[in-house]
Amino acid sequence: METVAGTSLIDPFAVAVDVDKGEMPEATNRQVRRASDMRGYYVDERALERLIEQESDPLHYEVFEVPVPNEYGHLMYCISKLQPGVVGEECFMTKGHYHTQVNTGEIYLCLRGEGYMVMKTSDGRFDAQPMERGKMVYVPPYWAHRSVNAGSEPLVSFCVYNAEAGHNYGDIQTEGFLKRVYRRGGEVVIE
Ligand code: F6R
Ligand code: ZN
Repeated sequence: METVAGTSLIDPFAVAVDVDKGEMPEATNRQVRRASDMRGYYVDERALERLIEQESDPLHYEVFEVPVPNEYGHLMYCISKLQPGVVGEECFMTKGHYHTQVNTGEIYLCLRGEGYMVMKTSDGRFDAQPMERGKMVYVPPYWAHRSVNAGSEPLVSFCVYNAEAGHNYGDIQTEGFLKRVYRRGGEVVIE
């Protein structure tokens, strides 16, 4: 059969997802971010250093993947698992990124936990969508995105996006997301 240049023909496959644990046991890529990888991301830098020291640099979040070709037409997918907790008053969060190909979106289906998908455009629009088990959040093209765990158990999502999208962490780190998610006296505050 003929294929289109730039899009490989591969065999279909299936991968197990442990929905309760929020893991992909057969993952060949497991990206791990520890508290020390989050230096520069939280407001309360001293609280982050205390966490790193007192809890021996604990696990912050993981991404499980069985990769597909990074090519037009393929769909990348993963499990994202973010631990619960606070740094000072700020809820644990992922670094967040724009896609390198900024005109590509993403679907997050929340499988477990509670939190927010925090999003921002380069022209200053802001949005935060609640996440809970069974909620699908659509991240449109052009929106930087970060998950935030506002609950007491891991926040687990299944994500799907264009396989050639790529990740641009630098721009949003420079810009900032405009708002942060805090837990204060049992209340979740976005400001
Ligand atoms: C992929 C995507 C997610 C995140 C994951 C970790 O495009 O949005 O799989 O990569 O939640 O977050 P980051 O990549 O911001 O460290
Ligand atoms: Zn993404």
